Amino acid sequence: MHAVAERTVECENPLNIVDGYRFIASDYYMQSISEADLSDFRAFYHSQVSEDPYAPAVRDRGMIKIVFNPFTCDLQLATNQSYFQSYGANDSDGGKVRVFPAICPSLVSNKTFVHILNQDAELMRIYCERQGRTSLNLSVHFIRYKAEQGGASYSSPVWLHLDDEPLVFIHLVELTANALGADNVISGMDNKPTNVLRLVAPFDTLVVDTMKKHAVTPLGSSGGTAYRDVMLINLEADLQQK
Ligand SMILES: [Fe+2]
Repeated sequence: MHAVAERTVECENPLNIVDGYRFIASDYYMQSISEADLSDFRAFYHSQVSEDPYAPAVRDRGMIKIVFNPFTCDLQLATNQSYFQSYGANDSDGGKVRVFPAICPSLVSNKTFVHILNQDAELMRIYCERQGRTSLNLSVHFIRYKAEQGGASYSSPVWLHLDDEPLVFIHLVELTANALGADNVISGMDNKPTNVLRLVAPFDTLVVDTMKKHAVTPLGSSGGTAYRDVMLINLEADLQQK
């Protein structure tokens, strides 16, 4: 009886959008993206990442913030272009406002980006309908993990956590064949892993909400420099507007 009541509460939680996480295979996005589009997008991505000022030699980054209406798919640049996480969400870099290298505003008219965003809009609409809103603050992060053989790159925060963001889309842009690790991990609130998965194909995607914790294991290299290039599309919480 008690368990049934708990399950009902969980289903009625307006923040439960994907029951903690959802893996979306590459095909969902790639069916409208040609090889030439993918190649162009990767070239744009490479041109837009530079050393993370808060983790030099560990990651390269770029960021842009946009205001997005998932019903009309109208989007525009946000006036605030800095990124804030609470300490509770990130014990490495939370509690401070970070300014990352800026992604060129031409991203908002990039064909591949617009297609991916419009696909993601479906889950964003569920959030909007429950919250009674039409406009969302999104932060788009290009995060390049890079590691030499014998070295390591890692995420911030480094291990299992809940984001401030009610919804985050982690889109793989590229994982080089010499990558070691870089597996996504899902856990309950007790930090015991329940699922491990790997983003491998272009635009393989992990969507996470705040119903479960998540992490990515450090990246190593089996030879030469290994890269894991991801694009995060974060639906920001109001508390992050600093
Ligand atoms: Fe996260």
